[in-house]
Amino acid sequence: MVLLLSFCGLGAVINLDALKTYVSFSTKKSLTCKRNKIVASNQGIKATASASAVVATEPLTKEDLITYFASGCKPKEMWRIGTEHEKIGFEVNTLRPMKYEQITALLNGISERFDWDKVMEDGRIIGLQQGMQNISLESGGQLELSGAPVETLHQTCEELHSHLYQVKTVAKELGIGFLGIGYEPKYSLEDATIVPKKRFEFLIDHLARVGPSGPDMSSRTCTVQVNLDYSSETDMIRKFRASLALQPISTALFANSPFSHGKPNGFLSMRSHLWIDSDKNRTGMIPFVFDDSFGFERYVEYALDIPMCFLYRNKRHINCRGMTFRDFLSGKFSHLSNEQPTISDWEVHIGTIWPEVRLKRCMEMRGADGGPLKMLCALPAFWVGLLYDEESLQTILDMISDWTTEEREMLRTQVPITGLKTMFRDRPLKDVAEIFIKLATDGLERRGYRETGFLEPLAEVVRTGVTPAEKLLELYNGDWGQSIDPLFQELHY
Ligand SMILES: *[C@@H]1O[C@H](CO)[C@@H](O)[C@H](O)[C@H]1NC(C)=O
Ligand SMILES: *[C@@H]1O[C@H](CO)[C@@H](O)[C@H](O)[C@H]1NC(C)=O
Repeated sequence: MVLLLSFCGLGAVINLDALKTYVSFSTKKSLTCKRNKIVASNQGIKATASASAVVATEPLTKEDLITYFASGCKPKEMWRIGTEHEKIGFEVNTLRPMKYEQITALLNGISERFDWDKVMEDGRIIGLQQGMQNISLESGGQLELSGAPVETLHQTCEELHSHLYQVKTVAKELGIGFLGIGYEPKYSLEDATIVPKKRFEFLIDHLARVGPSGPDMSSRTCTVQVNLDYSSETDMIRKFRASLALQPISTALFANSPFSHGKPNGFLSMRSHLWIDSDKNRTGMIPFVFDDSFGFERYVEYALDIPMCFLYRNKRHINCRGMTFRDFLSGKFSHLSNEQPTISDWEVHIGTIWPEVRLKRCMEMRGADGGPLKMLCALPAFWVGLLYDEESLQTILDMISDWTTEEREMLRTQVPITGLKTMFRDRPLKDVAEIFIKLATDGLERRGYRETGFLEPLAEVVRTGVTPAEKLLELYNGDWGQSIDPLFQELHY
């Protein structure tokens, strides 16, 4: 699961005054972003690495929080594609989850061999950085690549290729391998690697208190996500609605987590299902996105009422004891009344909210399971084709305009179980998905970068109606003789 903000995040320290000069508030409802004065995530705004260095000059206000999102607006020629994915490591000889020592050896190896900078915490290596790319760990040791914001899907796929080559080269020597799957297929939560990182202690502690599947979801699931840009508040609203309605369709197309404890688990996407039982305050299909009142401010209101997972001060995580960001902003909580809220706190907070589509200073598509390389390339292709092309975007908005909250919820809960066989308005979801694959293809064609080939794996899924999970189940019940072990061959990157 991707917990961190990245791609269009600003690092940690943000100069709010700089943000404000680039965003003009006109009328209350229509925040506009002046076309020639828009700030790209890594230009114009100073970002440094230490969140504790912020000294607030004026108290943080709700307007500042709205400005934060508005400052993500970028003109179309600056729209980028930022792809993130996670994968599970295993010992090739035993198929057991890799140990923490093996993960650190891997990170050190990649750093030395391929010239990545090490990211350290308390004297331990916790990640790598090279240019705009980051490698990090999730709480169960899942290895994540947060890709650089790039212009074309060719660049995305090249980046993925190169990353997997580097990981494989070093992993092989350490006797470990990585799986392109959405959920750890064989071992139990107790066997999962534990990454000693303070942030995870707080998150897992929080997740364990608020829902039955939180820790499992955090330590054993893998996803592939794409971050995309918007040009204005209106553009954000349109993309949010289109992508949120269609998120269950991407869940179906990419469903790839049908095994737990070495057996079929009754789901096609266990990963997606686990999110349903996680903290309901900060996950799900957030129906208010379809209300007329939706915009940056409404999203701010939503996030304000969500309890904070922790506060980060002087390199330490502080327990917030259920305090919402709104409480924090109003100075309500006495045990933290000495702490001034900063925009960095806000950035951390909105990074601990996980609806199916998430607003950052870009938009994150969160519905898909991790998978093999071709699926990692297909995910950004799907969303870029649908959302970065005006004609396809408008067609989607017309198509989904009469979908009800109940229908969207039904898709959200049913798709992890029945995938493309889920019935939607008297037809299988496969037929609906086929229309969207066509729209994505048309959208990519109009971009003119010859990117439609990246959609081929999805075209095959809708042609046959067989999701990746169902393919694995067929193998399990057929060639594999109901043993899970061949899966480690099949999905080994
Ligand atoms: C990588 O990490 C740096 C530092 O935290 C951050 O500024 C950058 O946005 C990250 N890049 C991506 C692609 O996540
Ligand atoms: C959800 O948030 C509200 C406050 O906005 C809080 O009272 C409630 O306990 C939270 N629920 C969970 C599961 O954290």
